[in-house]
Amino acid sequence: MGCFPCSGESSINKKHYKKRKNINSNNRSERDDDHAETPPDTPQLSQHKLVKEEPKVVSHSAVENASLRSNSFWETGNSRARKFTFAELVAATENFKAEYFLGEGGFGKVYKGHLKDTDEIVAIKQLDQNGCQGYREFIIEVVTLCNAEHPNLVKLIGYCAEKEQRLLVYEYMPLGSLEDHLHGRRRNGKVLDWNTRMKIAAGAANGLEYLHNKMKPPVIYRDLKCSNILLGEGYHPKLSDFGLAKVGPSGDQTHVSTRVMGTYGYCAPDYAMTGQLTFKSDIYSFGVVLLEIITGRRAYDPVSEQKLVEWARPLFKDRKKFPQMVDPRLEGRYPMRGLYQALAIAAMCIQEQPNMRPLVVDLVKALNYLASQAYNPTQDHGSIQDNGRSHSSRLLKRVVEEKCTSGYGNERTKIE
Ligand SMILES: Nc1ncnc2c1ncn2[C@@H]1O[C@H](COP(=O)(O)OP(=O)(O)O)[C@@H](O)[C@H]1O
Ligand SMILES: [Mg+2]
Repeated sequence: MGCFPCSGESSINKKHYKKRKNINSNNRSERDDDHAETPPDTPQLSQHKLVKEEPKVVSHSAVENASLRSNSFWETGNSRARKFTFAELVAATENFKAEYFLGEGGFGKVYKGHLKDTDEIVAIKQLDQNGCQGYREFIIEVVTLCNAEHPNLVKLIGYCAEKEQRLLVYEYMPLGSLEDHLHGRRRNGKVLDWNTRMKIAAGAANGLEYLHNKMKPPVIYRDLKCSNILLGEGYHPKLSDFGLAKVGPSGDQTHVSTRVMGTYGYCAPDYAMTGQLTFKSDIYSFGVVLLEIITGRRAYDPVSEQKLVEWARPLFKDRKKFPQMVDPRLEGRYPMRGLYQALAIAAMCIQEQPNMRPLVVDLVKALNYLASQAYNPTQDHGSIQDNGRSHSSRLLKRVVEEKCTSGYGNERTKIE
C-alpha cells in the first residue's frame, strides 16, 4: 500500500511520486473521503498533505452496519478472523525483529511471524500510526476479507486492535509479490517464464471476478496492481490489500461517486477525471497489470516519466510492432499467437471508454484459456496445441473480436 493520487497528469503528482518513491515504490492516494458525494479534487487542489484518518463512518456497507463506537463490531465480525493480542504478535515476530521484515507499504511495515499455538507462518502488517493510511482502511480490509473466501484472494487470519495498535495477520505468501518478480528484489537473474505469467494473470482475473460477481455485496477493488498480487507456492497468485475496496453500485446506479484513490499508472482515466468509480475501473487497472506482465515494464516509469499505457498505445496500432512489446528478458521464449491474444486482451481492458472494456467474466474465460495453452519453447514458435478449434479458443476469439471493436487508430485489434 502507499499514498499517492492517481488522478492528475500534473507535474505535482509526478514530483510527489519521486519524493515518496524512496519510502515506497507503490504509492497511492492519501486522499479519501469515500462517503463524500462531491467530485474529486482538481489536481491543483490535491496537495498531498498527510491526512490522519479517523475511524469515522465509511461507506462500505458491512462497516456502515457495524457500530464503530463500541467494540461490538469486532466481536460480531465474522468469526473466521481471529482476534490477537498485541503480545501474541510481538511473540510471533520476536518483537518485530529486523530479520523478519518483509517489506513496507503505505499502511506500514510487514513482518514474517510464527504463531506458536497453531504453528502457522504468517505475515503481520503493522499500521504505521504516523502514516497516511489508517484505521479506516484497516476496518475495510478486515470486513472485506472476513466476508471473502476464494483461492485467489489472500486469507486474513486475524487482526489486533488493542489501544492504538492496529495489525493485520495474513497467510504468508512465500514468493512475495508479482512486483518483486517483475521489477524488484526477487528477480535474482530469474525471469518469470511465459506460462507462469499467464497463470498469474488468469489467477488474478479469477480473484477479481470473485470480488465483482460472487461477493455479496459486489466489491470494486480499486487497488489492483502488481505489488498487490502475492504469490504462493508454484506462483499461485492471490489478490491482497482491500483497504480501498468499495461496495459496487446498486440498483439502477452505474457508478459510485467517490474521491479518487488508487495508484498512479493504474488508475482508469474516467475515474480519475470524474471520481465515478465503476467495475470497469478495475478492468482498466487489470489491463495495466497484464501489460506489465507481458512487457516487464513498470506501470509508471519515474525515469522517463511515462505511463506504460502511453508507451503501449502507439504500438497497439500496428500488429507488426507487437513483438517489440514483449519483455526482452523472455529472450523470444513466448508463443507468438499467445502474445497477440494477451496483448489484445490488455488493449481491450485499457480502452478509454469504460463501456468498451470487457466484463470480468469474459476476461476470466480468455485468460483461463491462455493459461491452459502451455507453451513449450522447444516446439515451434507460436504453436498452440488445439489450433484454435476448441470451444475456449473460439470463445476467446469471439470475446476479443466482439469487444475490441474500436481498436487503436483505424485498425481493429484482432487475434490471429
Ligand atoms: N501476506 C504476505 N506474505 C508475504 N509477503 C507479504 C505479504 N503481504 C505483504 N507482503 C510483502 O510486504 C510488502 C509490503 O506490502 P504492502 O504493505 O501490502 O505494500 P505494497 O502493496 O505497497 O507493496 C510487499 O511488497 C510484499 O512483498
Ligand atoms: Mg500490498
